[in-house]
Parts: sequence; structure tokens; C-alpha cells
Amino acid sequence: MRRGRRLLVVGSLAVAAGCAHPLPDPGSPGARIYEERCGGCHALHEPRSLTAAMWEIQVRKMRETMRRRGVRPLNDDEEGVLLQYLRAHATDAGGQS
Ligand code: HEC
Repeated sequence: MRRGRRLLVVGSLAVAAGCAHPLPDPGSPGARIYEERCGGCHALHEPRSLTAAMWEIQVRKMRETMRRRGVRPLNDDEEGVLLQYLRAHATDAGGQS
């Protein structure tokens, strides 16, 4: 299973999810990682649907879930960028929701 094929599938899911609930800050590095790496198994949850603390727990949990399912988990850099993005748009981020 090579990367190209998986990205295609993930891409179409992200588009479908994007229609219903556009992600905040589209095209930013965090949004792109979120779309490309997190939409392959389930619909993307809206960033504002969880608090920053809950995102940290879920993203850490997904690291294990992805490994168990044979998907390359995020590396530390990707996880850092993703968490920064999710925190910035979380329920308790203040500002835009
Ligand atoms: C390999 C498949 C897979 C990928 C890739 C994946 N997830 Fe998940 N995710 C799951 C499964 C399976 C569950 C439910 C069972 C569990 O929690 O392990 C889940 C549950 C969740 C939940 C909890 C939903 C709820 O209602 O409780 C969140 C939030 C979540 N994932 C976010 C993410 C994020 C963020 C990423 C990207 C870092 C991601 N997922 C990538 C398989 C995946």
C-alpha cells in the first residue's frame, strides 16, 4: 500500500467533510496535516468540538490507534503543528469558534 493511493482516498474524504463543515484556517500547515492524516478512518471532527486538553489526549491516543492499524503515526513535528492548529481553534480557544 503506497502513499499515493491512500492520499487520494483521504483527499476525497476531506473534500466531503469540508463541504459540510469547512475547516478553520484552510490551507494552513495544521489544517493540511489534519486533512491528510486524520480523515482516512473517520470523518474529521470539527476543531471547535473539543477543548485543547481533549485534543491533546485524542491526538496522543490516535498515535497508538494508527500504529495498531498499520498507518504511519505522525512524527513529533507533524504532531506539534497539528496540536497547535487544533488548540488555536478548540472550544476553549477564545476568539473565533
Ligand atoms: C488508522 C485509522 C485512524 C486514523 C488515521 C485516525 N483515527 Fe481517530 N479514531 C480511529 C478509531 C478506530 C477511533 C475510535 C476508537 C478509538 O478511540 O481508538 C478514533 C477516534 C477518534 C476520536 C474520538 C471520537 C469520539 O467521538 O470519541 C478523535 C477525536 C479522533 N479519532 C481524532 C483523530 C485525529 C486528530 C487523527 C489524526 C492525528 C486521527 N483521529 C486519525 C481511527 C483513526
